[in-house]
Parts: sequence; structure tokens; C-alpha cells
Amino acid sequence: MSDASEVIAPGTAASDEAVMVKAAALLHAGRLVAFPTETVYGLGADAANPTAVARIFQAKGRPADHPLIVHLADAQQLDDWARDIPDYARRLAAAFWPGPLTLILPRQPHVSDVVTGGLDTVGLRVPSHPVAHALLVAFGGGIAAPSANRFGRVSPTRAQHVLDELRGAVEMILDGGPCSVGVESTIVDATGPAPVVLRPGGVTREAIERVLGIACGEPTEASPRAPGRLKSHYAPEATVELVPRGGLAKHAAVELAAGRRVAVLAPSAADLPVDERLLFIRLPADVEAQARELYLALREVDRARCDVALVELPDEKGLGTAVADRLRKAAAP
Ligand code: TXA
Ligand code: MG
Repeated sequence: MSDASEVIAPGTAASDEAVMVKAAALLHAGRLVAFPTETVYGLGADAANPTAVARIFQAKGRPADHPLIVHLADAQQLDDWARDIPDYARRLAAAFWPGPLTLILPRQPHVSDVVTGGLDTVGLRVPSHPVAHALLVAFGGGIAAPSANRFGRVSPTRAQHVLDELRGAVEMILDGGPCSVGVESTIVDATGPAPVVLRPGGVTREAIERVLGIACGEPTEASPRAPGRLKSHYAPEATVELVPRGGLAKHAAVELAAGRRVAVLAPSAADLPVDERLLFIRLPADVEAQARELYLALREVDRARCDVALVELPDEKGLGTAVADRLRKAAAP
């Protein structure tokens, strides 16, 4: 593959169509196309082409047994990829698709082991971002796509982040602007009698339970592996330290005294020590805005070459559950 990655921002309706035709042709030829979704940018390949899908693992440096989510244009394609679909999964699809929800379901026999990591299930999602939707319609099939970052790193929420990490490894990057949700989809295991949230994300557990009128189950030993649940993930180079409420100023002072360059991610810089080795990165107080800005903030920590980033966990309700989950994984050794 050439070392150029073409970055295209679909613009007017006419150029959109030409861009999508070109992107779809690349996918049909077994090439990789990065595209925006409402959660994070994805690194896409033709889900029906195992050689193409293998290129994703190569580009990301990701272990081959980690399953990929197959993205679909609409819920009508659900039965093409999954079987034995429980009624509650159809209701979740009807309520939250297009949107940041991934359903884990028994796979149809044709779904490649390269996509599922050898599992007998497949992850399916219908994204709501208009560029993702246009690409899926132009392509006509399923697009296998993980987040478009190097393995274990922070997911990209801007086209520039994809370029920074995967320049040359991806043929085309569709630039759809900043992602509106900012954290990945909620992954729901829909293979059992009740849904089980394997990864909290853009659709809250509260919303799922409200729609279904039943409580979600808890993951057990028998639940499918979801390597996004690895303890350390979504991590910047810097050490991330979770600080108890009200402790940012004190912790910052300790880190500065130890000679480290410190980033503080918080809604306000009030009370923080004034020091040229301290970088304040504003994280909005509102949890939805916080989700949107989180990965950008973590990237900023590394860009400024900070040694340590200090942050408080949000309240773990609504989208705060997903933000706290990502911060814990970023902080895990
Ligand atoms: O929002 C998202 O979900 C983004 C966008 C691009 O759609 N995608 C994403 O993909 O976050 P990825 O590969 O970075 O994370 C997907 C997670 C992985 O932890 C994978 O192990 C899990 O989903 N997964 C996929 N298929 C699975 C399956 N059949 N069983 C269990 N876990 C599965
Ligand atoms: Mg990922």
C-alpha cells in the first residue's frame, strides 16, 4: 500500500456522492476506509472479505482474536448477519438504531471467523452519523470496523486523530468533523434471556431498561469476552491518576513537588497551583459534553508531554457510567 492517506471532507450533496462512490469502491477492492460515526471514528473494511478484514488488525496492531463490530445501513439487515434474535434485541434495535448501541447476537454461518475472532456471535450496529450512513448505503454490505486507533490507545474523535496514528495504513479518511457522542457504543450481549451491558457507552443502561421495562442482567463468567473490557485500554502515554473529589489541587502540588509535568482535567482551574509545569485542560462540567471532549483531552495530555494527568470521576449515572469506565481503563496500569 502507498504511504499516502487521502483525507476527504464530504461537502455538497453532489461531491458527497462522488466521494461515497470512491470510498465504496475502495472497500469493494479490499482496502481500508476510515469514517466518522457519532461515537468515534472507525477503521472500516468489507466485512465479507476476510483478507480485507485482516488488514484492519495489521493496521491497528491488534491481536487477531479480538472480534470486530459489523456496521449496517439499517435494522432490516439484522437477519442477514444474526440468527435466533430475541424479541428484546429487536425492541432495542427499533428504539436505539441508528445510534450508539451494539448488539451481540448468534452469527449467521457465513460470518467470517476473522470478523468474530472465532466466536459464534457477531456484534452489530447501525450508526447514525450521516457520513457513516451514506458510506454504508453506497457500499451496500456490512462494514467491519473497530475504533480507528492503534491497539490499546485512545479512540479518535476527529479525522486528524486517525491521520496522526494511522497515516499510510489507511487508504482514505472521511472527515465528518468532531464526533457528537465521543465515547464508544454501548455493547449489549443479546444471547441470553435478558440483555447484559458488556461495555457502557452512548446509550445509557437507564434508557435500555426504560424501553424494555426490565432490568439488565450482570456479566458473568459465561458472558462473551469483550476485550474492550481489558483492564488497561483507552490509555494515553501519560499516567492517568483518578483523584478523590476535591483533591485535585493537593494532588497537583504533590506531583509538581516530585518534579513531574502535570495535566489537570477539570471544569475549572480555581485553586490549582500556578506553575509552568502544570497544564490545565478544561473538561466540561456537563457529562454529555465531557464524553464528547474526553478523548481530545487525553490526547492533549500526550501532545503537551505531561507525565501525569489528574482527573476526578463523574457521577456514575447516565453517560457518566461510560466516562468513568473509560477513565478507569485509562488509569489502569
Ligand atoms: O462505537 C463503537 O462501538 C466504535 C465505532 C467505530 O462503531 N467501535 C468500536 O470498536 O469501539 P472496537 O473494536 O474498538 O470495540 C468493540 C468492542 C471490542 O472490545 C470487541 O471485543 C467487542 O466490541 N466485540 C465485538 N464483537 C464481539 C462479540 N461477538 N462478542 C463479544 N464482544 C465483541
Ligand atoms: Mg477500540
